[in-house]
Amino acid sequence: MLGLGNVGRAVAERLVDEGWRRLVAERGYEPPELVAVGVRQPGRRRGIDLPESIDLSDDLAGLVGRDDVEVVVELLGGLEPAGSLIRTALAAGRSVVTANKALIASGGAELEVLTRQSGAVLRFEAAVGGGIPILAPLVRDLAANRITSVTGILNGTTNHILTAMTRDGADYAGALAAAQRLGYAEADPTADVEGHDAVAKLVILVRLAFGPWLAPGSVARTGISAVSPAEIAQAASRDEALKLLCRAHRATDGTVTASVAPTSVARGSAIGATDGVTNIIEIEAHPVGTVAFRGPGAGGPATASAVLADVLAISRGDGSSWASVPNGVGVGG
Ligand code: HSE
Repeated sequence: MLGLGNVGRAVAERLVDEGWRRLVAERGYEPPELVAVGVRQPGRRRGIDLPESIDLSDDLAGLVGRDDVEVVVELLGGLEPAGSLIRTALAAGRSVVTANKALIASGGAELEVLTRQSGAVLRFEAAVGGGIPILAPLVRDLAANRITSVTGILNGTTNHILTAMTRDGADYAGALAAAQRLGYAEADPTADVEGHDAVAKLVILVRLAFGPWLAPGSVARTGISAVSPAEIAQAASRDEALKLLCRAHRATDGTVTASVAPTSVARGSAIGATDGVTNIIEIEAHPVGTVAFRGPGAGGPATASAVLADVLAISRGDGSSWASVPNGVGVGG
C-alpha cells in the first residue's frame, strides 16, 4: 500500500484487524496480507500502530517492484509520483487499486491502453462517490441498459459547505474549515471548491456510462467559491437548495455533454434533500428508468470500504473497473 493518510489508515486498520479478517474469511475470501506500506516520512507518527512484520518504507518504487507484492493499493493522491508508480506496477503485470480520481480522469485513456496491453487489472471504485458502490453496479448490474444521463452530487466537501451555509447560516470559510477538520477535503481544497474534483469523478462516470474518455478541461465547470449567502437564501425562499450539480447526458446521435455548476434544485427532490458529506448519483437508463445511489461520499472509513471491495474483487478474479463495458481506447484485451 502506498500512502497512510485518512483513507490509507482506515484501509490498513482493517487489513490487520482479526475481526475484519474473520468477516471476509466467512464470506469465502482469503484475507489479504498487508506486506508493506510506502510513506514519504517513515519516522512520522500517524495514529496507527502497524505490526512490526509490515515493512514501512520511503522507497516507494522499491516496494512496487517487490516479488511478494501482488496488488498495489495507491492512496498517495496527486498525479506524481502516484502516476509513475502505478504505470510501473501495471507494466509489470501487477494489479492496482486506487482512489486517485485526478489521475484516472486525466490519464485514464493512457492507463487503459497500458492495462489492456499488459493484462494487468486496474480498479478505482473509491475514486467516485467515496464509499458508494457505483462503478461496479454501473458496468455490471446495469449492463442490460442504454444509459442516457448521469446526474448528482459528487463532492462531499462542497455539499458539506453548502448544507452548513443553508441550514446553520454558517459562513463559507468556517464551513470549509469544518469539512477539512472532518477529513473530507483534498490536500488543496481548491480542487473541491472550484469543482475540479467533481469534474474528475464525472469524467470517470462518463467513460463507464457512455464510452469516451472526456478531457477534464472540456467539462464546463463552475465552483462554489463565489456562491453568496443571498443566493442561498433566494433558493431557500423558493423551497429549493443550491447544490454543486454534476450532469452528463448522451444524445441519440451519441454526443456527450457534461457540466459541473452550482444549481438550484427542488428541496423535496432526492438530490435537493441530499445534505452534508452525502453524495448521490442518479442514472437514467432504458429499460430500468431512474435509479439512484446515495451514501457517504468522503471520509477515511467509508472510502476504505470501496478500496477493500476492489482488493477483494481482484482476489475473486474480477477484471478492471471497465472490464464489462466496451473498450474505450481501441486496444485489445
Ligand atoms: N475531497 C473529496 C470530497 C474526497 O470532498 O468529496 C472524496 O473524493
